[in-house]
Amino acid sequence: MPILKIARMGHPVLQRIADSVADPTAPEIRALVDAMIESMAEAQGIGLAAPQIHVSRRVVVLMVPEVRTDPEDPEDTGMPLTVLINPEIEPLGDEKIGDWEACLSLPGLTGLVPRYKRIRYSWSTLSGEREERIASGFHARAVQHECDHLDGILYPMRMTDLSSLAFVEEMRRFSSDQEQPRRAAE
Ligand code: NI
Repeated sequence: MPILKIARMGHPVLQRIADSVADPTAPEIRALVDAMIESMAEAQGIGLAAPQIHVSRRVVVLMVPEVRTDPEDPEDTGMPLTVLINPEIEPLGDEKIGDWEACLSLPGLTGLVPRYKRIRYSWSTLSGEREERIASGFHARAVQHECDHLDGILYPMRMTDLSSLAFVEEMRRFSSDQEQPRRAAE
C-alpha cells in the first residue's frame, strides 16, 4: 500500500466533521486502518486520524508510549497501537491542564494546549465491539487531540494563549531543558 501524503492545516478535509463508520468490520475500513498505520509509522507519529490522510471518516489510530505517561498516575497508562472507530469522549470533571502538543498536520510547530485532565472514552473495534476506558494526563490528552481531528478541530483552535505557538526548532535553540517540547507528533 502506498504511503499517503498527510494533509496540512488549511486543507478543507481537516475542517470537516468526519462521517461515522456504519460497519467497522467492512473490508474498506480495514484497508483504511492499514494505510493510516503505515502513514503514521512513516511520519514517526504516535497518533493519526483518517482526515489527516484525506479520508473524512471517524477513525483514529493511536499508541500511548509508556515513557510519555506519568508513573504516579494509575489512569495515565501506556497503550499499544489501538484502532478507535467512532470514538466518543466524556470529560470527567472540569479540570484542564496545559501541556505541549504537536501535530503531523502542522509540521514543525508546537504549542501549549489546555485539555481535560480526566476522560472516559469509548470506541468500536475492527470486529465491531464497543469498548470503553478511563484515562487521564497524557493518555487523555492524546485521545482528545485525535478525536478533535474528527470534528475539524486542530490544536491551535484549543489554545488560550497563542504566544506559546512556536517552531520546535527555534524553541530548542532558546529554551531550557525542562521546557523542551516532546517530539512525538499526532
Ligand atoms: Ni494532530
